[in-house]
Amino acid sequence: MVAVPSVAPVGLVHADAGAVLEALPPRCIQLAVLDPPYYRMVDEPWDRQWESEEDYVQWVGGWIDPLCAALRTDGSTYLFGTPRMAAKLGTMLLEPRLEHRSTITWVKRDGFSAPRTTYARSQEQILYYAASAAAPFHRDAIREPYRSTKRIRAATRTGIPKDGRRWFPNPKGRLATDVWEFTSQRHLEKVHGRTVRPPHATIKPTALIGRIVAASSDVGGLVLDPFAGSGTTAVVAAPMSRPTVLCEKEERYLPLIRQRLAALPKPPEVLEVGPRRSELRSLIGELLEAGGDDGHTPPLPGATEAG
Ligand SMILES: C[S@@+](CC[C@H](N)C(=O)[O-])C[C@H]1O[C@@H](n2cnc3c(N)ncnc32)[C@H](O)[C@@H]1O
Repeated sequence: MVAVPSVAPVGLVHADAGAVLEALPPRCIQLAVLDPPYYRMVDEPWDRQWESEEDYVQWVGGWIDPLCAALRTDGSTYLFGTPRMAAKLGTMLLEPRLEHRSTITWVKRDGFSAPRTTYARSQEQILYYAASAAAPFHRDAIREPYRSTKRIRAATRTGIPKDGRRWFPNPKGRLATDVWEFTSQRHLEKVHGRTVRPPHATIKPTALIGRIVAASSDVGGLVLDPFAGSGTTAVVAAPMSRPTVLCEKEERYLPLIRQRLAALPKPPEVLEVGPRRSELRSLIGELLEAGGDDGHTPPLPGATEAG
């Protein structure tokens, strides 16, 4: 068995996500973190590429099938989006292909600006789907502190009656719910109390991505982020011993990704390739090998081995 390095390598591909997803070998990805453009929410050309919502949904539909083909049978995916888009994409595109696990509401203390005629937007949805029941969910790895400390202190001593038994709090904390509160990275990185223009408009909080990686991947499992932006997924996943492949179309973000990875206490090895199929395939081979993956993906639960 290959020992998985404590800091796993990162593959960085400067390419269109659709082309990369098409080129991936079948069933190689254990976790796909999907944070695509929102559709006309951010003042960036990459968020305004489509004429209409229908065009946008069609664009997403173009890469969902290759993505599903690349997911291992114990694979999971998390798709970020506005509540409106999440509703559309979940029903139209994910539901027929994958198993729904949770619809997570990420509550932001700050948020997008508020148009005059709507409530201020302070949430984002994250759709969590799995390829099959074999996908892990490490709920003990993502427990959070109990909120009612007084009640919990009392319960720790003597337990409290629940369903005819005595309930004692879990020393690791309470189960994570599907409502997540994470301050956005922009507000975490204030300078002298002021928010500064971030190097990328939509950097996700590292703690939020860390929860996803801890819950839905194993050490050595290959993680994919086809819309890498500033590279947050690899910044988090590589030190957690998950080899990660990032893809980003905009060349201007590549130096930021390299810089964030190089600034980690133990910087990962970064393997950069272009969009050619052969290059991508050998990159994935190297990353799988680093993760100790022998290419065997668990059978679907209930399936019998042929022969
Ligand atoms: C919402 S941002 C991702 C932010 C990222 N999660 C982070 O924490 O920094 C979406 C990213 O997708 C990139 N993008 C847009 N269209 C793309 C495409 N067709 N292929 C690959 N990347 C694309 C944009 O340049 C942008 O950086």
